[in-house]
Amino acid sequence: MIVPLLDVNAQNHPLRADLEGAFSRVITSGRFIFGDEMEALERECAEMIGVKHALSVSSGTDALILALMALDLQPGDEVLCPSFTFFATAGAIYRIGAIPVFCDVSAVDFSLCLKSAASKITPRTRCIMPVHLFGQCVAMDELLEFAKAHNLLVLEDCAQAIGSSFAGKQAGVMGQVGAFSFFPSKNLGGFGDGGLVTTDDDALVERMIRLRNHGMHPKYYHSEVGGNFRLDALQCALLRVKLPHYSRYMEGRRDNAQFYQESLGSCDWLTLPQQMPNRSHTWNQFTLIVQNGQRDRFKQHLMDRGIGCEIYYPVPLHKQECFQHLPAHSLRECNVAESLSQQVISIPIYPELSDEQKSAVIAAVKDFPRNEIYE
Ligand SMILES: Cc1ncc(COP(=O)(O)O)c(C=O)c1O
Repeated sequence: MIVPLLDVNAQNHPLRADLEGAFSRVITSGRFIFGDEMEALERECAEMIGVKHALSVSSGTDALILALMALDLQPGDEVLCPSFTFFATAGAIYRIGAIPVFCDVSAVDFSLCLKSAASKITPRTRCIMPVHLFGQCVAMDELLEFAKAHNLLVLEDCAQAIGSSFAGKQAGVMGQVGAFSFFPSKNLGGFGDGGLVTTDDDALVERMIRLRNHGMHPKYYHSEVGGNFRLDALQCALLRVKLPHYSRYMEGRRDNAQFYQESLGSCDWLTLPQQMPNRSHTWNQFTLIVQNGQRDRFKQHLMDRGIGCEIYYPVPLHKQECFQHLPAHSLRECNVAESLSQQVISIPIYPELSDEQKSAVIAAVKDFPRNEIYE
C-alpha cells in the first residue's frame, strides 16, 4: 500500500463546493487586495489564537521578516535561534541584515537549548527566536525568563504550531510577535503561500500594518521603507473555508500520534517523539529518532514499502554553506543539532490517514530488519 507523507487533496477536496463558492465570491466582488475577506480572516484567526491582533501576510518567511523589521532589529544585531529548524527561521534574520546566532537544541523536544543560548550572548544580542518545532510549544516560561534576564525581544516562530499551547497560552501570544505559515503542508494549509503575524501590542501592529504595505501611511507617503507582504483576498477567502475545520484536523493528528505511540512503543531501537507536560502538541510532524546509525537504511526501507517519509532536517543551519562566514560564536557547539540531523525521520501523520494506511506504516516500521540494527 502507498502511504504518502501528506495528501492535501484528501483534506481539500471534501470542501470543494465551499472553496469554489469562496473563490467565486471574490471574483464577483472584484476586490483582490485587502478588503472584507482579509479582515474577516484576520479577525477569525485572532479569535482562534486568543490574541488581540492578527495580520495576514504573504508567507511564513515574510511574517518573520516583517516582525523583525517592526521590532526594529538593525544590521549587525544578533538574534539567537535554534540550529535545528527550517532554513527560513535564520534566512529571515539574515535578510534584514542581522546575524543569526545558532544555538543547540534539546534531543528530547527539539527546542532551543537555553544553556547553549546563554553561552552565545554578546553585547549585540537583541532578540531570541524560539521555534515551536514539529507542532510542540517550547517551554515558554523558562524562555521568557531568560529573555527578561538578558533584555531580549522574543519572536516566536509558530510556522509549524498553529493552535499549540504552553500552560494554556497559545503559540504566538507569549512573545512580542508570533509568525505563522499557511504553506500547504502546515496544519492550516492554504492554496499556495501565506502567513500571519500576531501581537497584543497596539503600536507594533500599527507598524506592521504600514511595513506590510511599503511603509505607506497615508497613501503615497512613506516615513520608512517596508515591502509588499500582503496576502491575496483569494487566499484569505479560501483559508476561511478551512479555518472552522481546524480543531477536527488537530484531533485527527492527535489521534494518529497516539496510535503511533501505542503501536511503536515496543521498538526499542526508535525514540518516539514525546509530548512534554503542560504543553499541547499539534503534530505537524511525527519525528522518530533512529538509533545506531541506521536512519538512512531505515528511510530506504520505508520508501521500498511505499511509505512516505522525509528528513526534517538533514543539515543543521550552522553547517549550511551560506552561513560559514558568520562569527565563530554563531557556528560553534551545536552537537545535538548535528546528531539529530543524522538520526531523525518523519512519517505520515496527516489527519486523513485511513486505519489501513496507519497499519501499513506500523507494519513497515516493525518490519525493519532488527538484526541489522545491532550488527
Ligand atoms: C519553522 C519554520 N519557519 C518558517 C517557515 C517559513 O514559512 P513559509 O514556507 O510559509 O515561508 C517554515 C515553513 O516552511 C517553517 O517550518
